Amino acid sequence: MLSLGVFVSGRGSNLQALFAAIESKRLDARIVLVLSNKAEAGGLALAREYGVPALHLAAGQFPSEVEYSRHLAALLTEHGVDFIVLAGYLQKIPSALIRQFHHRILNIHPALLPAFGGKGMYGHHVHEAVLDYGCKVSGVTVHLVDDDYDHGAPVLQQCVPVREDDTATSLAARVLEVEHEILPRAVQLFASGRIRIAGRRVTILEEKDII
Ligand code: GAR
Repeated sequence: MLSLGVFVSGRGSNLQALFAAIESKRLDARIVLVLSNKAEAGGLALAREYGVPALHLAAGQFPSEVEYSRHLAALLTEHGVDFIVLAGYLQKIPSALIRQFHHRILNIHPALLPAFGGKGMYGHHVHEAVLDYGCKVSGVTVHLVDDDYDHGAPVLQQCVPVREDDTATSLAARVLEVEHEILPRAVQLFASGRIRIAGRRVTILEEKDII
């Protein structure tokens, strides 16, 4: 069973979706640690309600990136984390951690990457940019994390149609519903060994093809 470390920066509705999926047995994993770069993140309070260790940890608390990175790695080891989910986490992950957890870190992004991604593209900024561009569809991407923002290979993507009368708020709400469905589904694909990765191509195996 996967032992998840979930990183959050905000309210934690995607974290809630992971807890719900575990409770209803759609996701065969346990959440062993929740980390946030924001002390006041709703996701930390939520984790505590579920009795899961929830810690505030920010790069700025350490004299150097190397020490921050070492401390983070030690915490993940101490709690037995073997897979990381960035569920609305708005700080860059240290490169050393990305190497240590190669192909074992997922991020969720509220648009169809590679459009509307990269530094500064988070939360409502994404939906405003989608509407300003005049897009007819937006969506959700769950992807592997590499060293560049929003750049790793997609694992699952799903479209959300843009409506004529959409505001950033209304579009964000419909995108979020899809996020809550596909993030647990993506993690479950890893938990059940149904993912093969070749370069940027992530293949989802049928259960009968798993050896
Ligand atoms: C989600 O919409 C997630 O896709 C987005 O932050 C929100 C977090 O909501 N992430 C990004 O924009 C990353 N670039 P939540 O705290 O309720 O899960």
